[in-house]
Amino acid sequence: MYILPTIWTISLTILSVCDIHETSAKDDPRCPSVCKCYPWPPRVHPAKMAANCSGRALKALPAHFQRHFASLDASFNDIEELSKDFFGDAKMVLSKINLSNNSIHTIDSRAFSMLPDLWIMNLTGNKIRHLHQDTFKVNTKLWYLILRGNTINFNQSTFLNAPQIGKLDLSYNNLHELGDNTFNEMPNIVYLRLHNNQFKKLQSSWFRPLRKLERLFLEHNQLTVLDVNTFIHSPKLFELSLSWNKLLLPYHTPFLRLPNLEYLHLSGCGFGNIPSHIFEFTPRVRMLWLSSNRLSTLPVDIFNYLESLIFLDACDNNLLCSCELKEVWDLCRYRHIAADVSCNVYLLEGTGEGEGEGEAQNQTATAAGAGGCFGRWDVLEEMVCNATDRPSLPAPSKDTSVEQLALYVSIGVVLLLSLCIVGSVTLYCRKYKSGWTSTVRGAHNLTYPDMMPLNIDREEAT
Ligand SMILES: *[C@@H]1O[C@H](CO)[C@@H](O)[C@H](O)[C@H]1NC(C)=O
Ligand SMILES: *[C@@H]1O[C@H](CO)[C@@H](O)[C@H](O)[C@H]1NC(C)=O
Ligand SMILES: *[C@@H]1O[C@H](CO)[C@@H](O)[C@H](O)[C@H]1NC(C)=O
Ligand SMILES: *[C@@H]1O[C@H](CO)[C@@H](O)[C@H](O)[C@H]1NC(C)=O
Ligand SMILES: *[C@@H]1O[C@H](CO)[C@@H](O)[C@H](O)[C@H]1NC(C)=O
Ligand SMILES: *[C@@H]1O[C@H](CO)[C@@H](O)[C@H](O)[C@H]1NC(C)=O
Ligand SMILES: *[C@@H]1O[C@H](CO)[C@@H](O)[C@H](O)[C@H]1NC(C)=O
Repeated sequence: MYILPTIWTISLTILSVCDIHETSAKDDPRCPSVCKCYPWPPRVHPAKMAANCSGRALKALPAHFQRHFASLDASFNDIEELSKDFFGDAKMVLSKINLSNNSIHTIDSRAFSMLPDLWIMNLTGNKIRHLHQDTFKVNTKLWYLILRGNTINFNQSTFLNAPQIGKLDLSYNNLHELGDNTFNEMPNIVYLRLHNNQFKKLQSSWFRPLRKLERLFLEHNQLTVLDVNTFIHSPKLFELSLSWNKLLLPYHTPFLRLPNLEYLHLSGCGFGNIPSHIFEFTPRVRMLWLSSNRLSTLPVDIFNYLESLIFLDACDNNLLCSCELKEVWDLCRYRHIAADVSCNVYLLEGTGEGEGEGEAQNQTATAAGAGGCFGRWDVLEEMVCNATDRPSLPAPSKDTSVEQLALYVSIGVVLLLSLCIVGSVTLYCRKYKSGWTSTVRGAHNLTYPDMMPLNIDREEAT
C-alpha cells in the first residue's frame, strides 16, 4: 500500500535533484555567457561540465574559459588559428572537443599540450593543410581524431607521431596518395576512413604499419586495379569498403587476399559480371554488398568460396530471372543466406511454332518494397528449371524464355565443337591408320556420356 507513493516520492526527489543540477550548471557563474553548460558526463559528475558554444561567431575561446570543462562544442564558429595559448596555459580536463566547421588553417604544435585527457578531437570541415608530427604527442589518451573535409597534405615522411590513436578519419581530403612512412608512428589504428579522396592506386607498403587495422573505408575514390596483396599487412581487417570505385576485377585469379574479412562492400563498382574465383582468398566473408552494379547474373560458382555468407545485397542491378539465378536463389534458401535481390522477367513472344525466334517483350517483376528489394526475386520460386535435365523442360511454346534460347545456342555451339573435334580426330586418325573411324566414334561416346541434350536437340531439329 505504501510502496507506490514511496517510489513516487523518491523518483520526484531524484528528478528535482537532477533539475537543480541542470539549472545550477546553466546558471553557473563559471559558464561563459555565450555558451550553454550542463554537467558532464550528464547527471553523473556535477563537478565537471560540458560547454556548448556552437555557432556563436567566436574567433577564440570565451574569456575565463575554465578548467573544469570536460567537453567543448565550439563548432560552427570563426576560429582560424589554434595558437600555442588557445587553450590557456594551465592543464585542463577537456576530453571531447568539437572544433568542426570553423576556418582553422594553422595549428601550433603545442596547441594541445595542456590537454592530457584529450580523447576525441573533431576537426571536420576546416582548412588544415599541414599538421606538425608532434601535434598530439603529449595527448596520450587521444583515441579518435577526425580530420574529415580538410586539405591535409602529406609532405613529410611521417604523418603524426601518435601511437595512441585508434581511429582516424581522413575522408574528403583530396588525397591522391600516401607514403610508405605516413602511418609509421600510428601502429594502433584499428579504424581508418579514407573515403571520398582521389586515390587512383594503392600501394601495399602504405598500409604496412597498420597491423591492427580492422575497418577500412575507401569508397568514392578512383581506384581501378588492385593488387591481390594490397592489404596483406593488415591480417585483422574484417570490414573493407571499396564501393563507388570503377574497379576492374581479374578474370582468372582471386581479387584480394583477406583471410579474416567479414564485411565486404562492392556497391556501385560498375561490375558487368563477377568472375568465379574472385572470392577465393576471402573465405570468411559474411556480409557482401554488390548493389548498384550492372550485373545480369550471379554465377552460382562464386558461392563455393563464400561458405560463411549470411547476407547478400545485390539490389539495383540488371539481373535476369534466369535458371542460373534460380540456382542462386535455391542456394540462398538452402544455406539461409538473407539475400536482398531483384530480377527482371523477360518474356519472348514467339512468332514461329516451337521455335525460339521472337520479339523480346520485357516484364519487370513488380512488388518492389520501399528501400531494399526484398521479395523481388521470389518469382524464381515458380520458375521451372532442371539443371541436370534441361531438355525435359516443357516443349517450347509461344512463350519461350531467354534462358531456353541461350540453352539452344549453347547446345548448338557444343554440337559444333564436338563435331569439329570428332571430325579432326577422324581426319587425324585416317591419316595414320585407315579403318579407325568407328573406334573413335565409340571412344567419343564413352568420353561424353551425358551428351543427352545433343541427341534430343537433334531429334527436335529433325
Ligand atoms: C550544441 O548545440 C547545437 C545546436 O546549437 C547542437 O546541434 C549540438 O549537437 C550541441 N552539441 C552537443 C555536444 O550537444
Ligand atoms: C560535435 O561533436 C559532438 C560529438 O563529438 C556531437 O555530439 C555534436 O553534435 C557535434 N556538434 C555539432 C554541431 O554537430
Ligand atoms: C564532428 O562534428 C560534426 C559536425 O560538424 C558532426 O556531424 C560529427 O558527428 C562529429 N563527429 C564525431 C565523430 O563526433
Ligand atoms: C561542415 O563541414 C563538413 C566537411 O567539410 C561539410 O560537409 C558540411 O557541409 C559543413 N556543414 C555546414 C553546415 O556547413
Ligand atoms: C609542409 O608544408 C608546410 C606548409 O604547407 C610547411 O610549413 C612545412 O614546413 C612542410 N614540411 C616539410 C617537412 O616539408
Ligand atoms: C526491354 O529492356 C531493354 C534492356 O533493358 C530495353 O532497352 C528496352 O527498352 C525494354 N523494352 C521494353 C518494351 O520495355
Ligand atoms: C527434373 O529431373 C528429374 C531427374 O533428373 C526428374 O525426375 C524430374 O521429373 C525433372 N523435372 C522436370 C520438371 O522436368
